[in-house]
Amino acid sequence: MQQAWRASLLRFDADGQAVFDEDGLLVTAADDQGVQRVLAAGAHGTLAPQYPDVPVTHLPGRILAPGFIDTHVHYPQLDVIGSPAEGLLPWLQHYTFPAEAQFADPAHTAEVASFFCDELQRHGVTTALTFCTTHPQSVDALFSEAQKRGLRLIAGKCLQDRHSPDGLRDETEQSLVDTEALINQWHGVDRLGYAITPRFAPTSSHAQLRGAGELAAKYPDVWIQSHVAENVDEIDWARALFPDSRSYLAIYADHGLMRRRAVYAHCIYFDDADRTLMRDTHTAAAVCPTSNLFLGSGFFDFASAKRAPFAHGLASDVGGGTSFSPFVTMRAAYFVARAATTGLEPKPGISLSPERLWWLHTAGAAQALDLEGVVGSLQPGNEADFVVLNPEATPLLARRTRAADSLAELLFALIVLGDDRVVERTVVSQAK
Ligand code: GUN
Ligand code: ZN
Repeated sequence: MQQAWRASLLRFDADGQAVFDEDGLLVTAADDQGVQRVLAAGAHGTLAPQYPDVPVTHLPGRILAPGFIDTHVHYPQLDVIGSPAEGLLPWLQHYTFPAEAQFADPAHTAEVASFFCDELQRHGVTTALTFCTTHPQSVDALFSEAQKRGLRLIAGKCLQDRHSPDGLRDETEQSLVDTEALINQWHGVDRLGYAITPRFAPTSSHAQLRGAGELAAKYPDVWIQSHVAENVDEIDWARALFPDSRSYLAIYADHGLMRRRAVYAHCIYFDDADRTLMRDTHTAAAVCPTSNLFLGSGFFDFASAKRAPFAHGLASDVGGGTSFSPFVTMRAAYFVARAATTGLEPKPGISLSPERLWWLHTAGAAQALDLEGVVGSLQPGNEADFVVLNPEATPLLARRTRAADSLAELLFALIVLGDDRVVERTVVSQAK
């Protein structure tokens, strides 16, 4: 079945440039599996005559844009959002680990999984790379929920066999057996993908990381996700536990955990050798600005990531992060990039353009997840995951967006003033 949507249309071309049609048309068609894919996207005046018989939903005053992609989020941390602590390690110990231990309870797990998917969709997020807990059934619960909704979701069971409390810590051999069973059960089913998920180097033994690396080699199209170089105390700890590795990041490379489809959250404290390692191994960073500001972790170095480039996309990192909203995350990324470092090595801030910020949360995030051509841009062939945005969702937004006289001004107003109120509808290409 073919369908068409008429409204203003934001999309990204193959070079990552934003393209905007004031009066646009998005035409979609179902493939053999029942997934709606983009057939054509462009100016209404050009496309409408080519599709005279396709029913059109007309949404005057609205903007259609690619569904947002969250490259790093923790569904079991829904209930620890906004828990203040003196940095990452006390935050994990006092709030996060106890909250995650509760996922031994299937009823709690199912309730949170459903609430989490509601929040993603309410905020316009149509693809997410998600941590679960160490409990295998936490993965089953989330995948079952996402499958019901036709959501594109990548997730995995946390691997953490040391320095973790009873009830959360897993057992080395069993954790790897469970991971392989979950890969076989879920990876590639409908729109679901599995991610091998060592929490971070300090909570995994050498043997667990080695086993994770072996699975990563055996299943090359499965994702890998973890954390790296987020906080100075965490880095000292990791380096003390793995003294033979050149850097914290290199621990993962030394265990076979850097390759295409590997995604590391934070990546703040990098040197150029780390950046080169990211690029050469086709590994991507998930940049988590609200989390880094909330936990006082530091500032992702956007300028260096451009100078010594490696793939990166934006992420909420809920519950270290403070919001599911891509608008809040893009706004925080702008602030972080603007922040000049002072002190002994002063460095000027840079201004990320609104088009770039938006790309980093859609088409650029798709690239980081190795999903280019699948989602994120609304180019023909993409799965038709998109959002319907109301640029007049609040009085101030209406006033500001009405006065915008360029695409950059319009997008910047949405980034600076927007939140879930802007997202009028989230359309998923495989809605059931
Ligand atoms: N490092 C290890 N675990 C976590 C986590 O849950 N959140 C964040 N932000 N960093 C981590
Ligand atoms: Zn995280």
